[in-house]
Amino acid sequence: MDLIPYGKQQITDEDIQTVVNVLKSNFLTQGPKIFEFEEAFAKYIGCNYAVAVSNGTAALHLSVLALDLISGEKVITTPITFAASANCIKYSNGEVVFSDIDPNSYLLDIKKVRSLLENAPKGTYSGIIPVDFAGRAINLEELKVLADEYNLWIIEDACHAPGGYFIDSTGKKQYCGNGKFADLAIFSFHPVKHITTGEGGMITTNSKELYERLLFLRTHGITRKTQIFKNSQEFAFGEIGFNDNEWPGWYMEMQELGYNYRLTDFQAALGISQLNRAIEGVNKRRLISKKYFEAFNGKTYVKRQSGEIEGHAYHLYIIEVENRLGLYNYLKQNNIHAQVHYIPCHLMPYYQQFGWKKGDLPIAEKYYNGCISLPMYPTLTNDEQNFVIDKIEEFYNA
Ligand SMILES: Cc1ncc(COP(=O)(O)O)c(C=O)c1O
Repeated sequence: MDLIPYGKQQITDEDIQTVVNVLKSNFLTQGPKIFEFEEAFAKYIGCNYAVAVSNGTAALHLSVLALDLISGEKVITTPITFAASANCIKYSNGEVVFSDIDPNSYLLDIKKVRSLLENAPKGTYSGIIPVDFAGRAINLEELKVLADEYNLWIIEDACHAPGGYFIDSTGKKQYCGNGKFADLAIFSFHPVKHITTGEGGMITTNSKELYERLLFLRTHGITRKTQIFKNSQEFAFGEIGFNDNEWPGWYMEMQELGYNYRLTDFQAALGISQLNRAIEGVNKRRLISKKYFEAFNGKTYVKRQSGEIEGHAYHLYIIEVENRLGLYNYLKQNNIHAQVHYIPCHLMPYYQQFGWKKGDLPIAEKYYNGCISLPMYPTLTNDEQNFVIDKIEEFYNA
């Protein structure tokens, strides 16, 4: 068997052709493909606005900036996520407060978040960054009730879950990133994710105000909108003279410290092409998960597995096992590169310097000791998946 990784991109001839077309066009960046990708993505997710950025981490950074997170403010997030979900809080010198996960869903335990909030004076926390970890949508309707009670903003880290949803209290599907409950949601287009642009990311929202702020921060805090210029027209024209009809064409203002977090047009073109297969990709992931679920259901060596969950987007298929290290090594010997998601963030040496230590979040730590993510991507063949399942069975039956 060729190498079977835990995640892999799919690039078709059509994807390649759309990228080549842009490479031959006038715009490599800041051209028409960006807006086209943003519109198509917003439509797919079911929100009003989308802002394309250079990666998911940039999306998180711009989100905390747009929500005015300031030094010393506390934000709650999960320890079972990629470090970027927490790091964005540190970019603004905020304080990261990790709250433990639910042992069944692996998501931030909303009851524990409530207890954190109830046990601190009101105003202690300014926001929450829940993560739709592995592709499972967190119940944002419930979280929003808490957020409103304590005046918190929500940034939904939906990197793992485009196409995922939860069922709300009225029985309706609420898609990840649709902006109904969270102020902002973010996505990543890294090659292991549902759709890829190489590197890339997106922020979605229903707020026009936040949307405009994000566009501004994405490009150095520079604006070309005459209505909001702060300097005078006399200044803008320079020494030569002042024509009172119009602002000169070159004139723009940098009004705030922003960044260059732009996506290129050829990446956006790849994103548009990939998005055409997004639904198909989620459906394939759900079929793969069903097969894993059936293969491991009732097996004593699997203590818990991702299972068949409605609305799960299955970025990852996770099983919890005894002797995870042995299994990992055995799979590797057989050219199957499983992975572990994640080493709890609070135990990263960087976060330990702020006082986090082993034992602080026991459920996340216990989960970490047994979890392993199995190969999961739309092009995984039946034979490859059977091989993975057989090797796992073989390891535990030896
Ligand atoms: C949950 C989560 N958040 C944020 C990110 C950061 O995205 P990127 O790698 O595009 O910067 C990732 C990517 O791995 C992720 O998995």
